[in-house]
Amino acid sequence: MNPAATFSLSWSATRRLLLACVLMGVAAMAQAQTIRYDATTRVFRIDTDAMSYAFGVNESDQLQTLYWGARLATSDALPAAHTNEGNVSFDPPASTSLQEYAGWGGSMYVEPDLKLRYADGNRDLVLHYVSHQIKGDTLDVHLRDIRQPLDVTLHYVVDPATGIIGRSALIENHTKQALTIDSVAAASWNLPAAEDYSLRYLTGRWAGEWQLQTRAITPGNTVLESRRGSTGHENNPWFAIERGGDWAEDHGDVWFGALAWSGSWRITVEQGVLHQVRVTGGFNPFDFAWPLAPGESVSTPVFYAGYTSGGIGEASRLLHRFELAQIVPQHPKPRLRPVLYNSWEATNFAVDQAGQEHLAELAASIGVERFVMDDGWFGARNDDHAGLGDWVVNPKKFPHGLKPLIDKVHALKMDFGLWVEPEMVNPDSDLYRAHPDWVLNFPGRPRSEGRNQLVLNLARQDVRDHVFKVLDDLLSHNDIAFLKWDYNRNWSEPGWPQVAPDQQQKVYVDYVRNLYGILAELRKRHPNVEIESCSGGGGRVDLGILGHTDEVWPSDNTDPFDRLSIQDGFSYAYAPAVMMAWVTDSPNWVNDRSTSLDYRFLSSMQGSLGIGANLLHWSPQDFAAAKKYVAEYKAIRTSVQQGKLYRLLSPRDNSPHAATESVSRDGAQAVLFAFLHASQMKYPYPRVRLQGLDPDARYRWRSLHGAPVAGTLVEASGAYWMNHGIDLALKGDYQAAAIVFDRVGGKR
Ligand code: DGJ
Repeated sequence: MNPAATFSLSWSATRRLLLACVLMGVAAMAQAQTIRYDATTRVFRIDTDAMSYAFGVNESDQLQTLYWGARLATSDALPAAHTNEGNVSFDPPASTSLQEYAGWGGSMYVEPDLKLRYADGNRDLVLHYVSHQIKGDTLDVHLRDIRQPLDVTLHYVVDPATGIIGRSALIENHTKQALTIDSVAAASWNLPAAEDYSLRYLTGRWAGEWQLQTRAITPGNTVLESRRGSTGHENNPWFAIERGGDWAEDHGDVWFGALAWSGSWRITVEQGVLHQVRVTGGFNPFDFAWPLAPGESVSTPVFYAGYTSGGIGEASRLLHRFELAQIVPQHPKPRLRPVLYNSWEATNFAVDQAGQEHLAELAASIGVERFVMDDGWFGARNDDHAGLGDWVVNPKKFPHGLKPLIDKVHALKMDFGLWVEPEMVNPDSDLYRAHPDWVLNFPGRPRSEGRNQLVLNLARQDVRDHVFKVLDDLLSHNDIAFLKWDYNRNWSEPGWPQVAPDQQQKVYVDYVRNLYGILAELRKRHPNVEIESCSGGGGRVDLGILGHTDEVWPSDNTDPFDRLSIQDGFSYAYAPAVMMAWVTDSPNWVNDRSTSLDYRFLSSMQGSLGIGANLLHWSPQDFAAAKKYVAEYKAIRTSVQQGKLYRLLSPRDNSPHAATESVSRDGAQAVLFAFLHASQMKYPYPRVRLQGLDPDARYRWRSLHGAPVAGTLVEASGAYWMNHGIDLALKGDYQAAAIVFDRVGGKR
């Protein structure tokens, strides 16, 4: 071998080695910074820039939460965990010590994380620490029952950028007996001792989703849940807890979390006898039973949670950032949402080639980037009574298939999207006539319909394979860029008669896992296809479905005024980027309310802009205005969709005002949307103080609609706009303004 080559080889190898050592050192430091274990005190610590979370192994070998809140100094050595002694026989240590993950057994009265029963009738479970592994930003803690090899692994994953921790559990039956799990949570989050907590959560119904509720946390339980088989409109699996009760947007301690699960779920917020607050979340134990034969295991969904001292506004911004960086399929850099047109409100089921092509031409003329054909294109689908399940293009409506329409849409420089509702079937369909046993049902019992449809049992392998094949074929044979994936009813009679009776309640989990599996496999085989989750509006929005879909339809309610509070509620938990918002017709079908096209556009431009109006009814002036707004939206959408959202004036509680501000991540642009519902008593519009600007930079405003009052500076420092604010000349009913602040060179 050439000696020079030998030398150069060993030198480069040495360099690689040195580099590796440096990188390992950096990695070790980073690791030390995020998750640490002190073997002397048996304390685990998770530290990010603004948050610390700690738990320890107590003298009974149980895992006990020690701290969760603002960042502690690295040098603060947390003392070892000790069980709470319990002050009377009625409040024993196992119930009053803050267990990190509690089995139901021993003297346990708080909400358990895991409750099970063995075939022999034994139902006692006491979990003890066994071992752990730390790998980068993840931690696994192994627990085992004190008498039986029933193993639980708690998995923690930390996002250092936001301080959000994801927790889940794996339950393994290594005993010789079969057992049944009656309830299993992903995690319990214990808050620091305090008595002035209050809870926020989201409730709703069809066309009235995302209503923010606030209540004081007092002794007892508040249960947020869905028993409906899917996420549901009624409650959303999100919570926020604040200390102090003033719920300021910009300051205050807030603990918040969201469960990544699209099936029946439950989050219990509990204040115990010593006023300890504990939030437990996972599969809904209602009508749930999971048999676990020896050697079998089951894992839970992930329950994410975070903390901030920056108020509920910052809690939302952390979640938004986390969703785009860690959850959505295109993370960490999701594509900007294209401006879309959807034909549903224009045509309902009456779609055909000529009509859709005409709408596509009109949509393209205003700058739309994606044309979506909604319900009605397949089978005998002329209304909601028939055809669902028969995913064959209707030959009367589209004599040459979908290709001519898709080609036309492409020629107009838009991509093409299509509506599907793959999990459902109308009894009046070829699919149901061929496979009446494919739906959820109890033999011999009625099959309740919702919107004239039944739910296909996706937990069945044959149904799962059929649904996958239908969609895979559709996407393989047509140039489709986007699926609007709808789901228009909740479950009833959730029987699965084809499997043994003790296996049937697994349907709640197997169904959702197969749904996720189909979505994941479709995305893998068709990587350019994007998907929207829709469930009669916002009935299936959660961090689980968002792991597989690029956006969601928050509500069928497209009234631009109702939308202000719907969008406000949505923003507490979910990012504006995933929130589709259409401009539709006036008067709106929901409330018969008339609003200007400007108002409708500005309401929808707060999220991912879509247009759902009947363009055949638009005047030349409407087209001109729409073209202008679509172009303006494209110039601000990075800030709106992926920037930082500040809720400046709340539309809740019958407030006549509403205002939001979106600041781009680089701080170069801020977009202010302001709305006036009704002028009253000749009061001026409240002065709007911006947030999140660089106080030393200079910003110049331009108005998209609705000017500031005369005399307002045109250019000023960030400090000026944030402290002095801007006065807007909004008067009358249903008025709106949108002002863009662009950073200009130089400091103040
Ligand atoms: C319910 C959805 O939310 C609507 O947007 C529309 O797609 C209809 N279904 C179609 O049936």
